[in-house]
Amino acid sequence: MRRDKQSVLLIDETQVFHLSTCVSDRMERLFICAAPFGYLQPYTTNAGNIPREMFFGRRDEIEKILSRTSDGCLVYGGRQLGKSALLHHVRKLYDEPQGARRAFYLKIDEIGGQAWPAAHLWREIGMALFAEGIGTKGDGTAEHVVGAIRNWLAAEPDRRILMLLDETDAFLAAESRTGFPNLGRLKDLMEESARRFKVVFAGLHNVRRMARAPNSPLVHLGDPICIGPLNTSAASSAEARRLVTEPMRAAGFDYESAELAWDILARVNHYPSLVQVFCKALLEGLGNLPRTVGAGPRWLLARAQIFEGGSAQEINRQIRERFQWTLNLDPRYELIAKALALYRLDRLDGNAAVLRNGLSAEAFADEVAPWWPKGIDRLGIDDFRAFLEEMVDLGVLARYGLRLDRYGLRSAQVAQMLGLRDEIEAQIMHIAEKEPRVDYDAAQFHRRIVMGDPVRRAPLADRALADLFDTARPGPRVLVAAPSVWGTDIAERLRDLGNIWVDDKGPLTAVIHAGQMTGLRSLFGSTARGRQIVIIPANTGWDEKVLEWLARQPLVLSGAVIPICLAEPEWLIDHRQADAKIPARIILPRPWGEGMLRAWLEEQGLGALDDRTTRARMLAGSGGAAVLLSDAREVFAKVVAAGNDPTVALNEWYDTQRLPPHAIGLPPRFASLLRELHGLVGDKVEDLATIEALLCDSTGSDAGLLGRQLRLLSDFGLLASGDLATDGVSLNPLGLLVTRSSD
Ligand SMILES: Nc1ncnc2c1ncn2[C@@H]1O[C@H](COP(=O)(O)OP(=O)(O)O)[C@@H](O)[C@H]1O
Ligand SMILES: [Mg+2]
Repeated sequence: MRRDKQSVLLIDETQVFHLSTCVSDRMERLFICAAPFGYLQPYTTNAGNIPREMFFGRRDEIEKILSRTSDGCLVYGGRQLGKSALLHHVRKLYDEPQGARRAFYLKIDEIGGQAWPAAHLWREIGMALFAEGIGTKGDGTAEHVVGAIRNWLAAEPDRRILMLLDETDAFLAAESRTGFPNLGRLKDLMEESARRFKVVFAGLHNVRRMARAPNSPLVHLGDPICIGPLNTSAASSAEARRLVTEPMRAAGFDYESAELAWDILARVNHYPSLVQVFCKALLEGLGNLPRTVGAGPRWLLARAQIFEGGSAQEINRQIRERFQWTLNLDPRYELIAKALALYRLDRLDGNAAVLRNGLSAEAFADEVAPWWPKGIDRLGIDDFRAFLEEMVDLGVLARYGLRLDRYGLRSAQVAQMLGLRDEIEAQIMHIAEKEPRVDYDAAQFHRRIVMGDPVRRAPLADRALADLFDTARPGPRVLVAAPSVWGTDIAERLRDLGNIWVDDKGPLTAVIHAGQMTGLRSLFGSTARGRQIVIIPANTGWDEKVLEWLARQPLVLSGAVIPICLAEPEWLIDHRQADAKIPARIILPRPWGEGMLRAWLEEQGLGALDDRTTRARMLAGSGGAAVLLSDAREVFAKVVAAGNDPTVALNEWYDTQRLPPHAIGLPPRFASLLRELHGLVGDKVEDLATIEALLCDSTGSDAGLLGRQLRLLSDFGLLASGDLATDGVSLNPLGLLVTRSSD
């Protein structure tokens, strides 16, 4: 029967006798005793919805989701780690079709993408509720659905609704681009019902990035739950072990020694899905054996059978393939993991460094730099570290060192799953060609100021903006921005942003102070105003004295008022040359890079132009200057509408784009330095020391001065981001555009 893969219950005389002696649970006993004689395959490799008795672990997570607190509203984790399985399981646990507690599972991967706008979520929720007799059919608007939920909850005090939304990445990304209108309403409804109505959003790593994004309402949704490998606590390891042993027992097998179950878990890196893959294949292999060793259920499994049996190779292949799915989430994950695997194999100290001591984030960044994909912007060290943390959550990396600030591969098994040396090298070469999806990225995304206006955007990317408005970091700021690159209404845009800004202490307000500097006093006189941003536009007469005065004000020192002085680039040059210490943080916007351009193209319905060649042309033409790109929107839209090869039209556009040095406030001597520099590096990257030496020869200035001047060009946003000394010197698209325009 086992060989024929028949699932039967063997009932013989002994069995009948045994059952007659039990008083309760006869059925359960029958299954326990009889099933092992037949063939049973309890393990499954299908996604998501698994039987209740095959779901193990995640107890804390379930408790959080079911609680009436804001905890558990966000669930994130890599592919295949068990998010959908968890949501399905929670639904089954919670839902009482005839009772007061209802739970719904909705997979909404398409909502928020090209086809369905985010607001379509209401229709989906409305339909799911209506199908279960909650509310009327309605028109699918938010008003209607919110009304239906309110009414249903109001009818009886113990009624509750749990709405489990799976694959919400596109929805959340769409929401973050438009100021969270739908998410905001869901959140309000949760709060007003004291979470008798609760929504859970599950998704990939993006959910976590979004949850930490400045000014996101997700910040108020409690701590996100990370669905990682099943060994985050002793309890969850124990549960993982049950997954390896219990269904196996039901199928008629026991492990010869207890540690074999742990070895299986280590082999599959505690990924529940890989346990399923491993044990399923193991059982299949055993079913195919002509004869099982030993007397009969339960048969004992020896190490060799488990790890070296006929199907061992196939099992390893499947495990590698599925592990690769996790890395596929982002080519940068793959690059980092594979570069480490290579480091381990190629360096003398490789094994110890990668598997025991770890590397610092900085060393790590250097390690992957040579292979960094061209189409993907480099990450600053903080973003890089955040990225490594994501990989820790995924169970690919682990933290090492006394302060846990070093990173390495999580285990030798992970290293093994990454493949053989030759494969790894080939794969790394290949990664350089890959493009990640356009994800929300706080380091790059310049938000819209009002939802309905696609043109007015923040002059700073979200992270820099949060830093600018951060009341926990008191003191005046100077924002230096060229109007020709960032627009002429920066003060107004910052004011409008400040007035809708909400952080964890609540909303801010913002005003522009355009009058006399003496008038400033009135703004700092009273204490009862709440937290406020005061914007002092460029060319209004503020100077170092004013900054000093501002820095001394008690309201500024406490962070209750954040003064932001705007300046044009000339100010920076004067200030740097005077080498004066000023009591203010200087904030400099960076031109748009690939990431922002891609988000913008998608948002503007210009996704058809989102390929590497076209983007490179657009960045070259505009230099990533927000103003030039906005102006080009019509041109790009025509190109898309025409539907043919964009090259000719884009080249024509490119030829008309100009941004001469004086337009960005760059004095002639810096313009000629930029030209010299361009003559030396072209569109390549050069080592700082070499460049300095060459420039010293050709310009006759001393090295110290040159270093300062190069740094100024960098502050102007004309050089590639990163540290000049370690990353080298190269012109970015804006630098190239300005050089080209100065001839
Ligand atoms: N807690 C668990 N217990 C047992 N198996 C699990 C568990 N979590 C996940 N799995 C297995 O992993 C597979 C992948 O999980 P799934 O929920 O589809 O991942 P995700 O939605 O995160 O991509 C499931 O089909 C199931 O076989
Ligand atoms: Mg899923």
